[in-house]
Amino acid sequence: MTAVGIDAVEIRTGKLELDLAETFAPAKGEDPGKYTKGLGLHSSSFPDAYEDIVTMGANAAHRLMERKGLEPDDIGRIDVATESAFDNSKPVSTYIAGCLEQVYDGDFHHANKGERKFACVAGTQSIDDAYNWIRAGRHRGRKAIVVATDTALYARGDPGEATQGAGAVALLIGEDPNLVELSPEQGFGSADETDFLKPNQQFPSVDGKRSVQVYLARMREAVEDFESVWGEIEPGDFTLVPFHTPFPGMVRKAALLGFRHITRDTHIEEELAAEIGRQPRAEAFDDEAAFRDAISEYTDKLKETETYAAWYDDVIDPTLTISREVGNWYTGSVHVARVSGLKQALEAGEDLTGERLLVGSYGSGAQAEIHAETVQPGWEDEIAELNVDEQLESRYAISFEEYEHIHDVHNHDTDTQADAEEFTTPDAEFVFDGWGRMGE
Ligand code: HMG
Repeated sequence: MTAVGIDAVEIRTGKLELDLAETFAPAKGEDPGKYTKGLGLHSSSFPDAYEDIVTMGANAAHRLMERKGLEPDDIGRIDVATESAFDNSKPVSTYIAGCLEQVYDGDFHHANKGERKFACVAGTQSIDDAYNWIRAGRHRGRKAIVVATDTALYARGDPGEATQGAGAVALLIGEDPNLVELSPEQGFGSADETDFLKPNQQFPSVDGKRSVQVYLARMREAVEDFESVWGEIEPGDFTLVPFHTPFPGMVRKAALLGFRHITRDTHIEEELAAEIGRQPRAEAFDDEAAFRDAISEYTDKLKETETYAAWYDDVIDPTLTISREVGNWYTGSVHVARVSGLKQALEAGEDLTGERLLVGSYGSGAQAEIHAETVQPGWEDEIAELNVDEQLESRYAISFEEYEHIHDVHNHDTDTQADAEEFTTPDAEFVFDGWGRMGE
């Protein structure tokens, strides 16, 4: 069977940087450790006044097409995943295609366009749609572009404010991919939840503490569902485990529970039992709360073991490097985690060809999806082409006052929107001028 997967990827960060320790924490009267150690975040990316989900997505897709030497005729579908859309009818993909048509001779009239919504998991769902389109043989040899683009902003004063971020990831999906092949096996955990929602409102209503528990519960279900088709996962099976990263501290919690799960009945459990005792089993408890307390006590001990620390440092930590600098990008977040892990491996001189990734996507509302990916021989060239470091280094560091101002601009405040014209806009990229989007 021909391999289908991610052929190439591009990342586009918002051009402003809010430093959480230096700028945000002092203004909030908080200890910087809450953000840097507790949440695991150093800074957030913000869009400048001339950037929005369309310009970030179009700039990412444009660089992807240029780098891969693609013309519009090579693309059979453009799907956008976002939870920051400003139009309830016309999909953001049409706006992005419109931008791209300003710089190519051809157009995208032949391409199927759509918009996917299921909070942060929609980026992966769009990749699934493209995968199914290709597997069904409807693609006529063409590729799909998936753009995951969001401005993940919270109301000022909301506990989620420290986890904000903004950026876009553009992914090229096709046959014989250069980066990763996607597994046909998937696992899902899905339930009607109301801990994070945006019913006709600009900022989400969030029950932050509960959202953490819902993330863990749905991920556990998705892992179990995935194992029912893939077989039981063991700790050495996957070289990297990129998960949805609203903030790295969330993934730290998921990793601990995940490791507890995958060491069951393997020789590692024997080693751990000798060191910290046997893990609790549900059968041994009459009461659900007592079982949960026992798990929490066990995972507290687990994180102090060398066995766990070595696994975490190899498999999880490399996936969090970019996220620490950019915050939550909602639909793009898990795709940033994949890039981060592969980039760390490239820089460490590791050859990952043929190695497997276990990818955990999650969206509030709520749904988790687990699938596997196999790294392809072209991965090093693809990752080496990224200019993420340059983009991150060239961000403009904003003061707290500038942060409040730009937050208002992106809150569609009509008085402050006019200020967009005060900003100097760059050449050779798509920018939002308050009335329309200008091409190169
Ligand atoms: P909070 O309640 O203000 O923070 O916000 P906290 O008091 O729980 O502190 C956070 C951590 O920092 C804790 O660690 C503290 O102990 C630690 P933990 O106990 O959790 O391991 N801490 C410190 N550490 C070192 N030095 C210090 C210090 N002080 C405290 N001085 C909350 C946390 C998650 C509630 C907030 O950030 C929030 O509401 N975030 C938004 C919701 C969210 O991201 N949820 C994640 C799961 S849902 C999801 O991922 C979906 C999402 O992406 C949306 C979508 O799908 O569309 C959000």
